[in-house]
Amino acid sequence: MSSNSCIILTEVTKTFRLGLFKTKTAVDGLNLEVPAGEVVGLLGPNGSGKSTTIKMILGFLKPTSGEILICGQSAENQFSRRFIGYLPENPRFQKFLTGNEILKYYGNLLGIDGATLAKKTDFLMELVNLKHACQERVQGYSKGMTQRLAIAQSLLNNPQILIFDEPMSGLDPLGRIEMRSLINTVHTENPKSTIFFSSHVLEDVESLCKSVALLQKGKLKTFAPVSSLIADELQRYEIVIENPSDKIETTILSKCAKKNVAIGKSFSVDGVDQLSRILAQLSDAQAKIISVTGQRRKLEEALFRANEGLQTSEAST
Ligand SMILES: Nc1ncnc2c1ncn2[C@@H]1O[C@H](COP(=O)(O)OP(=O)(O)OP(=O)(O)O)[C@@H](O)[C@H]1O
Ligand SMILES: [Mg+2]
Repeated sequence: MSSNSCIILTEVTKTFRLGLFKTKTAVDGLNLEVPAGEVVGLLGPNGSGKSTTIKMILGFLKPTSGEILICGQSAENQFSRRFIGYLPENPRFQKFLTGNEILKYYGNLLGIDGATLAKKTDFLMELVNLKHACQERVQGYSKGMTQRLAIAQSLLNNPQILIFDEPMSGLDPLGRIEMRSLINTVHTENPKSTIFFSSHVLEDVESLCKSVALLQKGKLKTFAPVSSLIADELQRYEIVIENPSDKIETTILSKCAKKNVAIGKSFSVDGVDQLSRILAQLSDAQAKIISVTGQRRKLEEALFRANEGLQTSEAST
């Protein structure tokens, strides 16, 4: 056990009883250590055990076997929860209260005194970009606004650990970008805090997390730094050129894979060195470059490979 881990799961299993003779193992012998101060992603397809893991960390569900420690305290000890701020999968609030009233209500439950709570409410509504709607009833809030209010609520007790269950779920592309940016801001505001969030969207994890844990059928398949999963990947770039001349195609781009696109032709280039060389030649030849897009292999493929490797090594043992 590392002294720098704020959440430690040791051989954690959760089996649900579905009837007299039927059971479902949602989490199966999970060992995981979440390093303090990092943003860590919990990734996995639907039904892989993410929410069950999170509910056990929060002490809402008791593991069938195994042990969970939060900052050195058992997750079954209610005091472990004072370290944690939590965003549930589908946050719901009393709809007739305003955003400000919701924060005041939960702040009162936490025992925060009036003057401090008023300041905190102002600060948090500003942080989550809801200042303009702080006097509106939450029944009029969009999904994205409700998620952001729930993040503000999770921050009320200055938690060391933030646990977000699918913070981007149900948001449109703009909402997702706002939520990613908010998570980034929250971590920048308090770099010592740990953010542990689940998602099945790889881009979210890739852009935010230092490390990622991949769950599959309740088992941990991979836990690795995101950088180590994608660092060695070949970088491929796509250059789109508006109506390139035959000369440009034959002299500069002859070795590149090409395809026709609506606004001209696209050429694939491998590696930064080749990209720089070709861009310089295209510039000399006055080619009209419309776009250059990096096509780095996605985390999804890296994880899939890591996972395949694991299955291969499991099969051979
Ligand atoms: N209370 C319960 N009773 C019975 N089975 C349950 C219960 N909670 C979860 N499960 C089952 O355990 C498995 C894991 O569920 P869980 O909600 O943890 O997955 P998840 O990874 O969070 O999925 P999603 O991405 O859909 O949110 C699923 O097969 C689910 O049906
Ligand atoms: Mg879930």
